[in-house]
Amino acid sequence: MRTKITRLFDIQHPIIQGGMHHVGYAELAAAVSNAGGLGIITGLTQPSAADLANEIARCKDMTDKPFGVNLTFLPTVTTPDYPGYIQAIIDGGVKIVETAGNNPEPYLPALKDAGIKVIHKCTSIRHALKAQSIGCDAASVDGFECAGHPGEDDVPNFILLPRAADSLDIPFVASGGMADGRSLVAALALGADGINMGTRFLATQEAPVHQAVKEAIVNATELDTRLIMRPLRNTERVLTNPTVERILEKEKALGEKLRFEDIAPEVVGVYNTVMHEGQVDKGAWSCGMVAGLIDDIPTVASLINRIMKEAKEIIQRNVDLIS
Ligand SMILES: Cc1cc2nc3c(=O)[nH]c(=O)nc-3n(C[C@H](O)[C@H](O)[C@H](O)COP(=O)(O)O)c2cc1C
Repeated sequence: MRTKITRLFDIQHPIIQGGMHHVGYAELAAAVSNAGGLGIITGLTQPSAADLANEIARCKDMTDKPFGVNLTFLPTVTTPDYPGYIQAIIDGGVKIVETAGNNPEPYLPALKDAGIKVIHKCTSIRHALKAQSIGCDAASVDGFECAGHPGEDDVPNFILLPRAADSLDIPFVASGGMADGRSLVAALALGADGINMGTRFLATQEAPVHQAVKEAIVNATELDTRLIMRPLRNTERVLTNPTVERILEKEKALGEKLRFEDIAPEVVGVYNTVMHEGQVDKGAWSCGMVAGLIDDIPTVASLINRIMKEAKEIIQRNVDLIS
């Protein structure tokens, strides 16, 4: 399937694996790229720019296909060494960067001068238009369903994607709630040029996380995510567990008095415990409503092949309907 996104990134299938903290290591990114999609290493999961340089080198050992690096600009306890990470990306010869969170404008000149294509993840049309106006090459339009940070507008993809199609000139992918061939065809129908998936790729054989994380996703339904940090206007969609329910109770009890420090112990630094030790109830971790559509743990290649096969069958069936 050829779309503006496959042409822009020189990939076979219009399927991107979004950056995921403590998940987006070289193993997963390479598996996605080798299967014809676009794999993405999560920059800030690497403790330093030197570690990111090593991770990029490891990924290059595992694939000769294009892959990208995610740079997330969200409120953090200590500001990461963004210029150092960008230098590692440039020196590593990576040609695609997925930015997310705050406006990436301060960092765009360095990326563009190095010939890097930038896809910015946005949760609203105004942010997508801003990304377009500052020179981003593409957008990843993240609906309210998505894992992680859906923003504060709560617009689901059935509205957000056609609005993006009507508003943007740059190509964009549909992100949030994407799982299978039906998602891909629906995304194309709504005007997107491909899909970006997080939670679905987390439940694959190659995702380098504890088996308990993958099983938690398979066992979850579409009713099992919660929105935390809403009172701080830093909303995150996470899988529910007793820790998350405690956070929500605290948020309710403190109301407008809530400060980040009140919930920090259950939110900061928990990814290692969850993703690698498999203690899935020990903290809040991003997960999308799409968990309700996930009931297996396939290899990345079989997942991508299945999505493409199903998408083609759906398109063919609908062509047959009208002919
Ligand atoms: C465990 C996990 C961690 C994530 N970490 C990040 C991150 O560090 N930076 C980022 O831009 N997006 C992050 N995301 C969001 C994904 O890149 C993607 O936008 C999102 O998962 C799409 O929604 P979906 O899960 O419904 O496919 C994360 C998602 C998950 C599931």
